[in-house]
Amino acid sequence: MLTRSECLQIEREQGSPFYLFDSETFAANFRDFRDAFARRYPHVMLGYSYKTNYTPYVCQLVGRLGGMPEVVSRLEYDLAERVGHPANEIIFNGPLKRRDDLERAFRDGATVHLDAPYEVETLLAFVREHPHTKPRIGLRVNIDLSDDTGASHTQMGYRMGRFGFLPDAIGESVAVLREAGIPVRVLHGHCSSSTRQTWIYQRITKTLCDLAAEHGADTIEDINVGGGFFGKLPRGFGPADAPTFDDYAEAIVATLREHPWAKGREPRLIFEPGVALVANTFSYFTRIVDVKSMRGNRIALADGNVFHTKPSMHAKPQPYAVLRANPHTPAAECVTQVTGSTCMEKDYLLQDVPGSLERDDFVRIDNVGAYTISMSPTFIHPAPAIVMREGSGFRALRRLQTFDHAFAQFAF
Ligand SMILES: Cc1ncc(COP(=O)(O)O)c(C=O)c1O
Repeated sequence: MLTRSECLQIEREQGSPFYLFDSETFAANFRDFRDAFARRYPHVMLGYSYKTNYTPYVCQLVGRLGGMPEVVSRLEYDLAERVGHPANEIIFNGPLKRRDDLERAFRDGATVHLDAPYEVETLLAFVREHPHTKPRIGLRVNIDLSDDTGASHTQMGYRMGRFGFLPDAIGESVAVLREAGIPVRVLHGHCSSSTRQTWIYQRITKTLCDLAAEHGADTIEDINVGGGFFGKLPRGFGPADAPTFDDYAEAIVATLREHPWAKGREPRLIFEPGVALVANTFSYFTRIVDVKSMRGNRIALADGNVFHTKPSMHAKPQPYAVLRANPHTPAAECVTQVTGSTCMEKDYLLQDVPGSLERDDFVRIDNVGAYTISMSPTFIHPAPAIVMREGSGFRALRRLQTFDHAFAQFAF
């Protein structure tokens, strides 16, 4: 991690607040995830969910590690090509794929996971006009995540997920496509669950294999289980019994190996992790610019803000550390809130920080790699720099946003 004097060096070069990326931890996450499966099954491929954090350097690193881009928009598709992936390495997901984006992906050989009947129609129209192109197609399956008690494990406790085709409708789409000469190559079952438990992935794997056996045995090459896995959690954060990569691999591979359809064919197992690879690889550093007393509370003001560390405003505590300007300051009362640089009451980065937080300390908030940078628009203050250690110094992966960047698309 960083010392306070390194924080000051980065602040001088790139401003404060800033993010620090740890590429070694990312590479270790990638390899540990992949190897947990590869030790148990020979045909494993990792996609990386770009939306989770599409810092281009991270996307490039995924390519160097042998991963595929999993993208859900033209923006991300363009980025995948820009960092050097040929289209045939791209997995194209998402509910909204515009007609020209779909046609480009069909033509260029990306793996396109159709999400709804309107995309099947677009595909059929495309192959009528371009009978010699051979799009590589998957179907996303909507899998019920109710447990034995009937409780839904879908994210936020929603009664059902909104994506993909119901299992009952898969047969019809496979048949229509087969008739048009388009084999379905992939069944895809990503689910965003609230609990990320192993049985969820067993259910996804089994459902996809059952459907492959019933409707597409001769054409399905890939079983894509999606993402949504727990990563390595900082001690004391997240559920104590969170499954490890090995737990997931054991459960998923056992399900696959037991399945009569998969036994004979050994389909490729594809994953699309985001959180599990990137969450613990970014930290956020912010300087304390003031500490004041208000109605018996000590309130610290940071130069960063909560929109950079948890734009979804989740209530889970985040791991943090204080880098003190003066380590000998006697312990004062607990700081009730570390508030942020915007004008929103809800902008607090931490609550109930024990010890003596003082002006000019830096606060480091860890585990901020997932759904932060890609989800925080410019709000009141420019988007902060992202740096990583390189040799004895630091390299900017993104520079502090300027006025010109922030307003480039506006008319004056
Ligand atoms: C289709 C798809 N794949 C993969 C992911 C990555 O999920 P996570 O970042 O939780 O691993 C998502 C996230 O919503 C997704 O929608």
